[in-house]
Amino acid sequence: MNLDLTHERVCVTGSSGFVGQHVVQILKQRGLSEKSLLLPRHKDFDLTDERDVQQMFAELRPSVVIHLAALVGGIGANRSRPGEFCYANLAMGLHLIEQARIHHVQRLVHVGTVCSYPKFCPTPFSESQLWDGYPEESNAPYGIAKKALIVLLDSYRRQYGFSSAVVLPTNLYGPHDNFNEESSHVIPALIRKMIHARSTHQNDIEIWGSGKATREFLYVADAAEGIVRAAERIDDPSPINLGSGQVLTIQDLVEVLAKACRFDGNISWNATYPDGQPQRHLDSTRATQLLDWKASTSLEYGLETTVEWYCRQVGLPQ
Ligand SMILES: NC(=O)c1ccc[n+]([C@@H]2O[C@H](COP(=O)([O-])OP(=O)(O)OC[C@H]3O[C@@H](n4cnc5c(N)ncnc54)[C@H](OP(=O)(O)O)[C@@H]3O)[C@@H](O)[C@H]2O)c1
Repeated sequence: MNLDLTHERVCVTGSSGFVGQHVVQILKQRGLSEKSLLLPRHKDFDLTDERDVQQMFAELRPSVVIHLAALVGGIGANRSRPGEFCYANLAMGLHLIEQARIHHVQRLVHVGTVCSYPKFCPTPFSESQLWDGYPEESNAPYGIAKKALIVLLDSYRRQYGFSSAVVLPTNLYGPHDNFNEESSHVIPALIRKMIHARSTHQNDIEIWGSGKATREFLYVADAAEGIVRAAERIDDPSPINLGSGQVLTIQDLVEVLAKACRFDGNISWNATYPDGQPQRHLDSTRATQLLDWKASTSLEYGLETTVEWYCRQVGLPQ
């Protein structure tokens, strides 16, 4: 059943985060009013705490939930805090899904991750391969927590008729990304490194890993459009991949980024650090079929926009 979100009370968890800000913007463009957009903040409700989640549902009375709140980070953060990443993502999803069921929410969108796929999975990953093996070790606690919630949604559909949608975006990038040194993903980490090297006239930078792993990157606004379409059109938690189809090695990415950041110094690779999953990209055929969705932002344009946004934030010239 399709939902017209302008007639719903739509709660977006994690709305102040990277993806959340873009999803909220699209919902506003769809015509949702301030009154029908419910944007609970972490400081008001800790979603790992069941009582807070109960209170949130009692106060906000949402009819649709787009669940974006999560503990997210790059390889470093996943490796140093695996327990927190597993616990927080499981707990948030568990309490939220259960309360959504109790409060007869019409639809819940769970945003999963490419990190749930098996470490050695033939590319492009198709949704039917999700359960074919253990994820890459460094992000398995996060990936499995996210994947377990798909089973919960599927069992709630079968037992209670609970309606949900699950999307699995690939690695995202764009304005409002997390540029924190401790927890950022690869693109913001590299932008920060290059922009700061350039502005301090530092000629050499070191990059972690061999640069040989392949990745697919999706511009965050494209992902947000896919997430909103899932809320409108999908009532079954069979996962739907969201990828851009643009696949490149980290070495190639660094080349494109150096151009966008106007960094022309020397780059050395420190292969004593892990590469993460060797190959990663998604088959997004189901997204095209079910959501009429395709990524529309080129990597070059998306990176330029991201670099421009970051430079504005830190007050440095692009
Ligand atoms: N970024 C990516 O490349 C990527 C790729 C695939 C999938 N995803 C998925 O997309 C979703 C959004 O990710 P993101 O990159 O936007 O993450 P993000 O920028 O780190 O935002 C996460 C949000 O979750 C909130 N949050 C964290 N812990 C919470 C808690 N205990 N209670 C309530 N709120 C809490 C945060 O609020 P505070 O800031 O106030 O703590 C923040 O608003 C996640 O489900 C993630 O798994 C992201």
